[in-house]
Amino acid sequence: MGYSDFCVGKSSEVTACPELVEGALDYSKSFDGYNTVGLGPCPRLASCEILYRKNKPEKAMEKIMGMIKTQKQIIEISKMAELISQLLQKSLSWVSPGMSTFDLDAMIEAEIDRMGVIGSCKGYEGFPSVSCLSVNDQVTHGIPDDTLLKEGDIIDIDLVIERNGYFADCSKTIGVGKISKEASRLVSVTEECLSRGIKAAIPGNTLGDIGFTIQSHAESNRFSVVRDYTGHFIGLDMHEDPMVKNYGPPHKGLELKPGMIFCIEPMINQGWRSVTTRGWDARTRDGKLSSRCEHMVLITKTGNKVLTSH
Ligand code: MF3
Ligand code: CO
Repeated sequence: MGYSDFCVGKSSEVTACPELVEGALDYSKSFDGYNTVGLGPCPRLASCEILYRKNKPEKAMEKIMGMIKTQKQIIEISKMAELISQLLQKSLSWVSPGMSTFDLDAMIEAEIDRMGVIGSCKGYEGFPSVSCLSVNDQVTHGIPDDTLLKEGDIIDIDLVIERNGYFADCSKTIGVGKISKEASRLVSVTEECLSRGIKAAIPGNTLGDIGFTIQSHAESNRFSVVRDYTGHFIGLDMHEDPMVKNYGPPHKGLELKPGMIFCIEPMINQGWRSVTTRGWDARTRDGKLSSRCEHMVLITKTGNKVLTSH
């Protein structure tokens, strides 16, 4: 079988293909993501125009095997995770009423330069800054501006850094000065969602178990789970497949195996889960608060290791 006998496609493409051989379909079913990989010999690749992107089998295998990191990759990614944890903790300590998110971003950028790493958000598909600073009803991807932070706000600081091709990503929401009881409950329940999600991230469980745990906890606290954004695998890129959903049925999706590294990042809304976007900016449709918290998790033989700290 030559190179052209293999293909890689999105899950929707793969499952839609009438010619797909069994093995590839199994593969696509075992994943649960937006850029899911399907791999398999295909009889009509040469003439296929619609459904398939051709690829060399080595490349396709690389993509699939990329989910299981090597020992060296784990060491390097863990180093980056330590660095981003220090950076996030510092950034959170700088938050104070009266400062603009633009100023906060400038301080973070200076620190990133001092650390000798790259701030991966800046320039990513045109994103203008090193940090995503999402205040109050902003769900994610808040672009720093001259709006001043004020007592009672909540702010999510979301950072991604890279060095020598290894990536780390984490985020946390905190209050600016004293915040309302309800805001504080939202922030703590979001953190609980994350820690429950992490507890579910063990070998033998599936991505669905993580999402189910998070959704159950959020909804039993009368909050809602954002569907438009999810966690993701990470390490050799900022966002790797598959996605790590914060919702959905248990026991579904990819089975977790030692060597996988991914970000769990529940985005929890005070009100309805709908999000409205304008360019990057993503806000709750009902204008109520949104909170997020993100860790990088490595699946180990016996459970997991949280690579980030905050
Ligand atoms: N942690 C964010 C995410 O996973 C990072 C986004 S960087 C941006 O979506 F450049 F896309 F904003
Ligand atoms: Co992330």
